[in-house]
Amino acid sequence: MAHRFFASLCCSLFLSFTGVAASAQSTAFDHITQTHALPNGVDLRDGAARMEITALRDNVLRIRISQTEQLPEDASWAVLDSARHSTVSVTAENSDATVGFATRWLRVAVERNTGRMTIRDRDGNVLQQDARPVEFHGNAFRFYKTMPLDEHYFGLGDKTGPLDRRDQAFTLWNTDAYGFQESTDPIYKSIPYFMGFRSGRAFGVLMDNTWRSSFDFGKQLRDVYSYGAENGPLDCYFFYGPDPKQVVETYAWLTGTPPLPPLWTLGFQQSRYSYDSQARVMQIADRLRSDQIPADAIYLDIDYQYKNRPFTVDKQRFPDFSGMVQQLKAKHFHVVAITDLHIAKAPGEDYRPYDTGMAGDEFVKNPDGSVYTGVVWPGPSVFPDFTRQQTRAWWGGLYHDFYHLGIAGFWNDMNEPAIFETPTKTMPLDVVHRIEEPGFTKRTATHAEIHNVYGMQNTRGTFEGLLRLEPNQRPFVLTRASYAGGQRYAATWTGDNSSTWNHLRLTTPMLENLGLSGFAFSGADVGGFAGTPQKDLLTKWLEVAAFQPIDRDHTEKNSGDQEPWVGGADAEAIRRRYIEERYRLMPYLYTLAEETSRTGLPMVRPLFLEFPDALPDRHPIDVDASASQEFLLGPDLLIAGAPFPDKMDDYDVEFPSAQWYNYWTGEKVGKPAALKGNGQPQSSSGPVLTTRVRPDLATLPVFVRGGTILPLAPLTQSTMDTPQGPLTLRIYTGDHCHGSLYLDDGTTYNYRRGEYLRMDSSCQLNSTGLEVHLGPHQGSYPAWWKEVRIEVYGWSPQKDQVAVQSSTATLPLEKSVNCVSVTVPDNGRGVDLQFR
Ligand code: GLC
Repeated sequence: MAHRFFASLCCSLFLSFTGVAASAQSTAFDHITQTHALPNGVDLRDGAARMEITALRDNVLRIRISQTEQLPEDASWAVLDSARHSTVSVTAENSDATVGFATRWLRVAVERNTGRMTIRDRDGNVLQQDARPVEFHGNAFRFYKTMPLDEHYFGLGDKTGPLDRRDQAFTLWNTDAYGFQESTDPIYKSIPYFMGFRSGRAFGVLMDNTWRSSFDFGKQLRDVYSYGAENGPLDCYFFYGPDPKQVVETYAWLTGTPPLPPLWTLGFQQSRYSYDSQARVMQIADRLRSDQIPADAIYLDIDYQYKNRPFTVDKQRFPDFSGMVQQLKAKHFHVVAITDLHIAKAPGEDYRPYDTGMAGDEFVKNPDGSVYTGVVWPGPSVFPDFTRQQTRAWWGGLYHDFYHLGIAGFWNDMNEPAIFETPTKTMPLDVVHRIEEPGFTKRTATHAEIHNVYGMQNTRGTFEGLLRLEPNQRPFVLTRASYAGGQRYAATWTGDNSSTWNHLRLTTPMLENLGLSGFAFSGADVGGFAGTPQKDLLTKWLEVAAFQPIDRDHTEKNSGDQEPWVGGADAEAIRRRYIEERYRLMPYLYTLAEETSRTGLPMVRPLFLEFPDALPDRHPIDVDASASQEFLLGPDLLIAGAPFPDKMDDYDVEFPSAQWYNYWTGEKVGKPAALKGNGQPQSSSGPVLTTRVRPDLATLPVFVRGGTILPLAPLTQSTMDTPQGPLTLRIYTGDHCHGSLYLDDGTTYNYRRGEYLRMDSSCQLNSTGLEVHLGPHQGSYPAWWKEVRIEVYGWSPQKDQVAVQSSTATLPLEKSVNCVSVTVPDNGRGVDLQFR
């Protein structure tokens, strides 16, 4: 391990990455002095320093490095034990120049003379290569990787800016970032994970380190991307696709999937800071119902509390809190209450969270052993020590009363943690936390180490506490701050955005990158938090958000009203139509949510996730300026807002494959005739199906992939209402035609005992006509429908009767523009139909 006196450029870059004092010693793992083959990898030494590379699966490597013989502790807040303890055997591959091994998918080679590592696939394609060996500067470290010209980077949670992280640098340090802008960094979350994508091949990197860290994708050094932290373990995971979906699923294997959310959380949610009296809350609920704007949730922001103290109610403003929750329930609303983690320092005031917390020694401390106090909404406050299992259990118990009052969801805000009246906006770095946690060595840790994981452990306390209170009810927790793996406990939103067109625009890449980073259940404050949206901005935002996982309208204190009716009947009618469409699509949304909970695949997807080979040169289509506002909801719906939503100029929608339909009209998007430049490739990337759109306030362009069977339900005003009428299956004829539907009671875990309904359907267009197969109902959960209405798009039969297999009867077809339809009884045993 050579001591290094880096060239001045390199050294100053390193310092700017890490912020480490110049006096610290610089070294690098740059010369292999000993090697030891392991059944699952290799153990390398450079003098006293050690690097262990192991294979957890054929496509997953773990790389741990230490400046001493002792590897970092094998413990993690992010990575599941089951994954960390997985192992596959490898074949050693050594030469004079390199030492390494191969799995069935990957080849790893470390140069003996330089310590530089290269990872290749079995075909020899370089996936990741050290530009130089890993460097240390005191306790700080950094990896440097060569950056091919055509590689693109995604992930890092909801960092701002464009979808592609290339040419930018980011700091991971959870920060209360009110009014953040497109270039603000850091913001609320730290997810030290990214996906690299080049020529259709994707890989993932997770740097499991909770300290302040940074990622630089060619901003400071041309052709090099780098990542490192100011302290803490060098504990990284490298995983390979090549399919980007495989990378997302592997990330979920490492860090967990989000749990299946309660169905109501996919409904429309109305919030503001704050509906600050019982009467106002009821007015809002009543107006939503009387204006027939479907909605499922109303949020209580901090003003429902007595003196902003979590777990209290202001009885002056909410004289019958329990009655209010019950009345809302009767109107089919769920209540979500904010419960921030700061506990008011209120000794002798009969404030139970403070009294029991002090009695149980649950709060973080100053280095001198006194309890740390910081000012937040309640004034001087104390802070639970969430890295202790015992403290999380105590915290979870605080939910007892609210839970039993019938509050359905809890909102954990300010958990970066945010502290007022200090320039750092958070706790001093020397505040002492205790790690008292199964799987970890018991010890104290400074806030510098715990900061980025503090919010995640807050939500873990909430989620697990709610589960203890009612083990068969799915909790709903919404968080602002988190760390990798936090998706196991909470959904999230993007924090205090602004009521500007640019923030509407930012929402698309933020939610896409969050989804790629594990947080599939996410949303942005619809209409924007800071400020008051122009009427048309609120309209457009409500249109787009109808196709995003969490659809919550929220705004700050003292801004103008922002509910869907604000601005008059014309605007309200448009907004209502989109929220209604979301409710019609609820079977599709819930089916996606269930897929997410099994696989980790997000609900909102960048196009390249489904279509990595969309373009002849295999670059991700989403990085094209014209496709920058497009996103997929699940595999089948493409939402194509304007690249600049405030501009009225016509724009092209770029499609990632050849067969698409207009969702609103059922019309097929023109085939090659619509190719750019009369079918002649206009760019080096080759021909792409496009369509030209004229922006219009009332229309958000939405398209459906050919080959989709899309489930829709009759409109309801709340997900608690049972849909009345047939299930609709819209068949968009095309290749690989299929569709799934998943259903259960929407609130409990009974689905784990078989109480669900799954129905897989398919269709085939052949020379005799169209065959449609509606699958039998799997599972024991009863359907709400007795009949299925089948609508066929993109193909017209000659006959106006449909034959039903195993019956001599035929059914009459209805024909309308772009669509033929038929309604068939569905007894759950499956139906086969022939259209001729
Ligand atoms: C923070 C939250 C915001 C909330 C406010 C008051 O700013 O991000 O959503 O309304 O605090 O609780």
